[in-house]
Amino acid sequence: MPNPDPAPSGPPSADSSHSDSAHSDSLRSDAAHSLALTRRTAWKLLGGLGSAATLASTLAPPLAAARPATAPAAPLPAASRPHPPAAAAGIPAPARAGEGGSLPTGMLRLDGTGMTLLLIRRATGLPEIAYWGGRLPDHLDAAALYAVRSPDTPDNGPDQWQPTITLLDTIGAWNFDLPGLVAARPDGRDWTALFQVDAIRQTPDELVIDASDALSAIGLRITLRCADNVLAASMRLSNRGDTPLLVERLVSGTFLLPAEIAALGVLHGAWAHEFAIAPMSLAEGGIVIESRRNRTHDHFPGIVAGLPATSRNAGPAWAAQLGWSGGHRLCAERMEDGRIRLTVGEYLHPGEGTLEPGAGLDTPTVYATYSADGFAGCARAFHAYARRHLLRWPTGQMKPRPVLLNSWEANQFDLAEDRLRQQIDIAARLGVERFVLDDGWFGARRNDRAGLGDWTPALALFPQGLWPLSDYVHARGMEFGLWFEPEMVNPDSDLYRAHPDWVLQVRGRPLLTSRNQLVLDISRPDVAGYLLRVISEQVVDARIDYIKWDFNRDLLAAADEGGRPAYRRQVLALYALWDKLHAVHSALEIESCASGGGRADWGALGHVQRVWTSDNTSAPDRLLIQDGAWHFLPPEITGCHISASPNWLDHRATSIDFRAAVALFGHLGLELDPTRLSTDEQDRLAAWIALHKRLRPVLHHGQIQFGEATPHRIVRGVTTPDGGTGIYLVAQRDWPPARMPSPVLLPGLSSDRRYRVTMPGPQALGGHWPSPAQQRLVRDGLAIDGALLRDAGLFLPQMPPQSAVILECQAL
Ligand code: DGJ
Repeated sequence: MPNPDPAPSGPPSADSSHSDSAHSDSLRSDAAHSLALTRRTAWKLLGGLGSAATLASTLAPPLAAARPATAPAAPLPAASRPHPPAAAAGIPAPARAGEGGSLPTGMLRLDGTGMTLLLIRRATGLPEIAYWGGRLPDHLDAAALYAVRSPDTPDNGPDQWQPTITLLDTIGAWNFDLPGLVAARPDGRDWTALFQVDAIRQTPDELVIDASDALSAIGLRITLRCADNVLAASMRLSNRGDTPLLVERLVSGTFLLPAEIAALGVLHGAWAHEFAIAPMSLAEGGIVIESRRNRTHDHFPGIVAGLPATSRNAGPAWAAQLGWSGGHRLCAERMEDGRIRLTVGEYLHPGEGTLEPGAGLDTPTVYATYSADGFAGCARAFHAYARRHLLRWPTGQMKPRPVLLNSWEANQFDLAEDRLRQQIDIAARLGVERFVLDDGWFGARRNDRAGLGDWTPALALFPQGLWPLSDYVHARGMEFGLWFEPEMVNPDSDLYRAHPDWVLQVRGRPLLTSRNQLVLDISRPDVAGYLLRVISEQVVDARIDYIKWDFNRDLLAAADEGGRPAYRRQVLALYALWDKLHAVHSALEIESCASGGGRADWGALGHVQRVWTSDNTSAPDRLLIQDGAWHFLPPEITGCHISASPNWLDHRATSIDFRAAVALFGHLGLELDPTRLSTDEQDRLAAWIALHKRLRPVLHHGQIQFGEATPHRIVRGVTTPDGGTGIYLVAQRDWPPARMPSPVLLPGLSSDRRYRVTMPGPQALGGHWPSPAQQRLVRDGLAIDGALLRDAGLFLPQMPPQSAVILECQAL
């Protein structure tokens, strides 16, 4: 349920490190109308450009001087809120830009290391977004800003000019595009909103704006934070009236993109084909990307944008992603003046935004960044932010990501303890550090039609429970992980037979199953309590270090006992359950699986330590899936497994070197039966695992570099922040279009350093007739100038499709 105002408790902002107590000066709002004349006079006195002192993040001084420290407008008692007759409001005089309510009263800004968000306060309304892009100088002339953002009043347009893009565009302002807020009372009133700023608090990296609309009795708090060049925006809307407020839409953030952008990169996909970034043209009108199923195989809640010349590693780029594991809606619209307004927010199902009097609705946080270094620059900012502000590690710090063996693809539901022990033995010899027992270990779960929900070990498989197997794993120096799918139940299960009322469904309609399962209402305290208890029993009894938390169906007609949609509450209850498990079992790590890629968003990342990137482990496809995912997610939290050949999904056969090279950069795992590998394959796998362990300090803490991405070749890498080391993957997808492959450019190296370039590990040189230099590359390495590697490129021997090399560059 929405939270009572004023105690905010909605989707927890991931950066709880910021607290309200950090806010400093509180700038109280203007009594707009009574001051309009004073301000107009003050504006004229400024005399145009250059006369006003520049004050970043504050009001321009003459205006500030004219501003009394008024308290925020007190909400009207609802009973005394008759809507005024039309005549009482009067007919406003025409007011063009820079006049009347649009009179600029202050400049606000938030800066990242390479980014500035610039806002203009006006006498009425919410601050206008004037600019979001590359870092602007510290000192800007506020009066000059007002002048350049003061458009003419076109013929046949509104008489009262208002900015088209504010922090929250509403119905009732001069706005004909998709509003960021859609709400009304049950009787249909209060469907417009014109907010007045009541107070602004700002520190160098945070801006909190309190606003209200007295007529509609709505309060609003907009919070914007900036850290590591990432903006984090969220809203809280509160119902100050005495009847419910039905909120249909409330965005987390509004962003301004330049008119020159022709297409946006949106993330389409499907199960086993997640994170595909596809350009969507934005010639006219707008695009809306929605996901309404609480899983995001179809649309990861992220978006990227660049100018026509922007590439993967150069040029201006913008990106945003919503930190939320439920439904979402991303809208990009070309405004009348050509610029693009991007709004990102949660998708509310009917009634989910109903606010009782006094209640508030907290949006999830949207994270956004700008980079002058292409999409890789945005990805680097996201990775840095996630590492520093989002991810929570049991010991406070990420330990080296343990290489794991997952039982699923090799065994599926056929779990024989003897065979598992043989697999574990070989895995330990290969260097595996964590064994994960996947689906099938419990209840009557011998296939996906029964047993889900009955979280006790199947005694036919594990007569003494799981602890002997867990001990066996631990004795080999490995961690023990266990699969759960706690939010689900098979109708054919003891749990469902005992508690058919626990599932989400519209009573009176047929039950809708998917993968033979139903969804539990985990927002019920009895259900959450049951799950906490049964999971905890296994964590303690079997000494579990790690949980793979699966979620294998979409929510559909997911109603609670009272028939109301429960999508939103389900997400909040999930986050609470994850947090409780962490609190009770302090060393536990959790992976968010969701059929791979279905719940790999930044909302989940505030509560888990790993995501399963995709059920598609076929290396040619994984190349692309990981590329898309790493635009938003740091590689070290994305599960990347070396699977068997031929692959279970597409039956393609690939070499173990190709599969290993593709998986090398992420959180490495094996998804195969080690007992079925030849000795040579085992040796090669052991060598790849050793290479991964040697390189993972760079791979998992460094900066991502996106190189060439063509239908025939993908190049990407990770460099250390000082540019001293670069590790690159060069993967051949198809034959090159020309007779000879083009040289490979390695982005991110220092142009003023020389590097020793090697092909480390168990790699062999392909090609028909490698040149002597190419042979030296494998044998002892080549010393090459960083500038040449970056800009001229390196000829590699011709590589057949579905082959790859890893290049290691160490500064000399
Ligand atoms: C879907 C997951 O993505 C797989 O890895 C595996 O855990 C299966 N579910 C088990 O049912």
